[in-house]
Amino acid sequence: MRKKIVAGNWKMNKTMSEAELLLTEIADALDDVELDNAEVVICPPALYLEMATDVAEEANFYVGAQNVYPEDSGAFTGEISPMMLKNMKVAYCIIGHSERRKYFSESNEFLMCKVDGLLKNNVRPIFCCGEVLPEREAGRHFAVVKQQVEESLFHLGQDPFAKVVIAYEPVWAIGTGVTASKEQAQEMHAFIRQLIGEKYGAEVAGNTTILYGGSCNGKNARELFSQPDVDGGLIGGASLKPDEFMQIITSL
Ligand code: 13P
Repeated sequence: MRKKIVAGNWKMNKTMSEAELLLTEIADALDDVELDNAEVVICPPALYLEMATDVAEEANFYVGAQNVYPEDSGAFTGEISPMMLKNMKVAYCIIGHSERRKYFSESNEFLMCKVDGLLKNNVRPIFCCGEVLPEREAGRHFAVVKQQVEESLFHLGQDPFAKVVIAYEPVWAIGTGVTASKEQAQEMHAFIRQLIGEKYGAEVAGNTTILYGGSCNGKNARELFSQPDVDGGLIGGASLKPDEFMQIITSL
């Protein structure tokens, strides 16, 4: 049975002391929660990864990075490698987020290299895909997501693919307060699962965790997560507020 996941993407937020407070508040709150076949992942800025993995050692969450460079080491000033993440006990890494596609021009092909670098080091990619508003308005959203998934992931063999988590994040829903409807989320998640089924077979497709992201909050999480192909969420703004983040986790 596939795992349910709620992952918090803190993006570029929080000072060191604020981050420490938020981590310990979430860790304490999770002590009182029974997670059934579910995982919580916290993805703080890279500077706080070590602090997060220290807290996670005694807590019921995993740590994810927000970005990685595909090579294990070398002359890549300012970058962080998959090997370093593994060494730091980072279990997950978000890649393909629309903000990185937009502001850092990350291509499907480059993301394919990141996927390979992460999997080689046993760090699980949380691969983001999703269309921008004009693409949805033109009825191209399925084609866009298909291309993103195929070009960055479908070179993988069945075993490495099984380690990948997918996050559908319609770009028009990110940080806007406009959430995809439960029907819009479900139909895209079902479509992605069908693509995976055609490539890797029904068992792999059934075991793949597909998260929804984009203005998911304490109020709408339960409805979104109740959809059969929505296996949890990738949460931005609401993951910075411990009470609301916990409300989302308990909506699983
Ligand atoms: P918001 O939840 O703030 O819309 O952000 C979603 C997101 O981009 C998570 O990666």
